[in-house]
This record gives sequence, C-alpha cells and structure tokens, in this order.
Amino acid sequence: MSLVTTETNGTGYPAATAGADDDFCPILGFDHLELYVGNAKQSAAYYCHAFGFECTAVRGLETGERARASYLVEQGDIRLLLTSGLHSSHHAARSVRRHGDSVAVIALSVPDADAAFDAAVARGAEVAAAPETAADEHGRFRHASIRLYGDCVLQFIDRRGYGGVFGPGFQAAPVIPGAAGGSSCGLVAIDHVVANVELGRMNEWVAFFSQVLGFSQLVHFDDEAISTEYSALMSKVMQDGTGTIKFPINEPAEGRKKSQIEEFLEFHEGPGVQHVACRTNDILGTVSRLRENGVEFLHVPAAYYEDLEQRVGKIDEPIDRLAELGILADRDEDGYLLQIFTKPVEDRPTLFYEIIERHGATGFGAGNFKSLFVALEREQAARGNL
Ligand code: FE2
Repeated sequence: MSLVTTETNGTGYPAATAGADDDFCPILGFDHLELYVGNAKQSAAYYCHAFGFECTAVRGLETGERARASYLVEQGDIRLLLTSGLHSSHHAARSVRRHGDSVAVIALSVPDADAAFDAAVARGAEVAAAPETAADEHGRFRHASIRLYGDCVLQFIDRRGYGGVFGPGFQAAPVIPGAAGGSSCGLVAIDHVVANVELGRMNEWVAFFSQVLGFSQLVHFDDEAISTEYSALMSKVMQDGTGTIKFPINEPAEGRKKSQIEEFLEFHEGPGVQHVACRTNDILGTVSRLRENGVEFLHVPAAYYEDLEQRVGKIDEPIDRLAELGILADRDEDGYLLQIFTKPVEDRPTLFYEIIERHGATGFGAGNFKSLFVALEREQAARGNL
C-alpha cells in the first residue's frame, strides 16, 4: 500500500483546477442506496430477517404508484431502497434482467442538490436526471442525478425541507410478516461502496471522482500487493473533501485464470457495485447475530489465525472469538480494523456485503486482501468459474 497523488490525465475530463481543499461539491453523507431487485417484497423480508433491517416505508399499487414497488429498509444510518418494476418495460425490471439484483442508485446527501449537480455537469458529468422538486403536504426537497459506472447513477439530494416518510408517494410501512421491527444487528452506517470496472477503465473513474466531484485519491493497491496464484486486481480509493465518503474502484489485472473481478463483470454483465461495507461498533455481536440469522460468510482458513497476532499486534478482541466467527483483522499506521465479507446475496456471484469495525484504522484491510482472495477463489472454483 502506498500513498500516491491523484493522477488524472488522458481521461476525457477537463484538467483538474481544484484540489481537495477547494471543495466545490460538499457532501454530508450517504443518503441511501437504491437496489433494483427481482422481487422487492421478498428482498425486504430478507434484509429484515437476515441483516436486522426494519422496513419503514413503502410505495406501490396500494399507495397509488402504478409503475414500481419500493420498500425502504433502515438500520442505524443505513437506508436501502429496494425497488422492482411492476411491468417488464420498467427500467428497474430491465436492469434486473441484465444485471440481476444490483445497486442502481447511490444517493448522497448534499447541502444544495442544484449546486452539486451544476458543478458536476460543468466539469463533464453526464446528466441522468435534471434537478427536480419532490413535494407533498409534508414538505419539499430537491434531487438530481448524474451517470456513474455501468448503469449506476449518483444522485444528489437535499431532503432537509421534507418531514414525511422518505419521499412523496411513500407511506409508513405496514408490517411485513415477521420482519418489521426485527431486531437490529448493530449496523450503524455505510463505510464505503466499492465498484468493479473493466480492465483499463479504473483511471477513467479515478479522474471522474477527482475532476467531476473534487474527490482525492486516498490509497492505491497495485497488482503486486494483491495478487494470488490465480487472480490479481488493482484498486484505488477515492474520497470526498471531508473524508466521509469513500469509493474504492477495482479493475482486474492479469492472472493465471479468471479473476474474481472478471467473474463479477461477466455475471453482472458490466461494471457496477461489487460490495457495500457497513460499519458496526460491535463486530462480534453483529456477526454472531448475522450468522444466527443465516447470513453466509466467506470461509477463512484456520491458518489465517495462527500468526494473526504477529501480523497485526495486540488487539482488544480475543483471537479465538475472531476465528470462531471468521472475522479478519488488519492494522495500518492509525490503528486496526476488523472485517468480514458475506457471500454474494443473490444467485449471481455479484453484490456482497462487508461488515467492518474500525479501531482508528482508516484503511481497507490491504493486509487481508491476499488471504481474502484465496478464500474468494475457493468459492469461485466451487462455482466452476476458475
Ligand atoms: Fe471493502
């Protein structure tokens, strides 16, 4: 892992005129992620039962919406909006047919949606949806979207003037049998959202985040640092001016066989969000509950724990508990972190989740990448894709 400065040439975006100090696109945090899924009602039940979310708002035929059905599930500050088209021609249905269930919209909370949109478009962003007002008897808010990797869009939203449940057209959720009010698993916030892009496209998206949004490059892992016998990847992490929003971007690197990134690109049919990392303040409790609920995690070889303390030094959590639950640990100059990765949460080997607890560390578990990849490749081989 090495700290490198932003490099942004030859990418089709205008030369950067602003550094991270000149934050022309201030961001308050993640507002929500919208997933297009095959069956939003069943997905909502899964996220509630398995991950401890609570369904708080719905939109669909019963609320007067004719085109789509959406369920908002929440836990801590994490909001996932699960949407299905009600007809095959709806863009959510078309997205599911191509990509399977996937993250379609990354919505960022900003102080001024119009200003963020105007600044991004002036710097070369492609318009996905021009600024619009959403309003009902509970108030009004503005939102606008630009295109992101693959079919994803990045939405700017400022909902501070709105007091209703989520947005116009939504109603407070009726009970999903056994799911609403389900017990939290202790997830508190979205830590980072990772994309896989095609070979040779990573620097283009690094330039996009840098020049269009004013993000800066935090770290860079090259294929030397993250290679195994079979696969390798290159990864760069982009963060906003305040360091609250982080978007790592992976691209495949030459390996002996098909890399996990290539497997994703094949089954997702293009670039998109590979994993969403959710933060917890009690990873032992969170992972215990998730496992009880049936969430499947990548298997970590027992050997990983044998020299863990030598690699990461003293940590508060007992190593035998980490081994029991399959939790990984890593240390950087600022502290340590604990993390674990789920298996893909749909039939295609595409979107999965990471659970992360930070004890000062600001990195992403680079020291775990290799052992993680060995584990990922074991799963990939079991699917006949290696
Ligand atoms: Fe991650």
